[in-house]
Amino acid sequence: MGPVRVIAVTGLKGGVGKTSTAVNLAALAASEGWRVILWDLDPQGAATYCLNLKQKLKGGASKLFRGTRDGLAGVARTTDVDNLAVVPADSSVREVDKVLWASTKPTKLVRRLIAGVDKDADVVIIDCPPGLSPVVEAVANVADLLLVPVVPEPLPFRALARYEEFLTDTKAASPKIVAPFLSMVDRNLPMHRRIEAEVLTSGRFLNAAIPTSSAVARMGEEQVPAVLGAPRSLAASEYRKLWAEAMERAGL
Ligand SMILES: Nc1ncnc2c1ncn2[C@@H]1O[C@H](COP(=O)(O)OP(=O)(O)O)[C@@H](O)[C@H]1O
Ligand SMILES: [Mg+2]
Repeated sequence: MGPVRVIAVTGLKGGVGKTSTAVNLAALAASEGWRVILWDLDPQGAATYCLNLKQKLKGGASKLFRGTRDGLAGVARTTDVDNLAVVPADSSVREVDKVLWASTKPTKLVRRLIAGVDKDADVVIIDCPPGLSPVVEAVANVADLLLVPVVPEPLPFRALARYEEFLTDTKAASPKIVAPFLSMVDRNLPMHRRIEAEVLTSGRFLNAAIPTSSAVARMGEEQVPAVLGAPRSLAASEYRKLWAEAMERAGL
């Protein structure tokens, strides 16, 4: 077994399906028998909520990052899904940007936390907050793969370009580990159909394209990943395709 792999779901934009993707990929990975930690790094705590856990990070985020606690293992919670543990988020997670900002080696703080679970996990899936903040930069630095959901409309493509510039400018990560994929695709919309066709022939995106789906939207109500609650939905089948592509890119 190799070192723990780090897959982050990230990008400049909010509301594009990052959290839904992180939760579903984590559930798929765990159901295949990988030992998974889903690390919720968004103070909104939506990933935590979607897995039916309390939005409470024991001891708070500042202490966790300053290394004065037992690391990720000490705060991870088990879930209803075998092999899937979650490092939950509460509002203290917004302090992470301040802690990293004040640190001379912000990446090291994140790397050390992940290294601490090297023996207990095969993959850490990180649900990032939107934006170009210190936490997003540090995560990009430690990740093996950066999954970026893109809604097939013009503005999200500009946001993707901006995110890639940010990685280059900050030297956080090579653009080679950025894996964009289409998210919230509505094939009733001519624009979505046209852009989807363009993107898939360009070869720059992963092949999976997550459709707009009531099974995914319901996760906020049922608190069960769509891939488990509605495994026969089109969204679930595209998440499986996405997970297969992500594993290959991340070297799992
Ligand atoms: N494929 C999808 N189909 C339908 N609704 C979706 C889909 N993906 C996300 N959503 C909904 O859109 C909103 C934002 O999704 P979320 O995954 O939280 O995005 P982000 O983490 O990028 O902010 C949520 O209400 C979620 O339920
Ligand atoms: Mg989110």
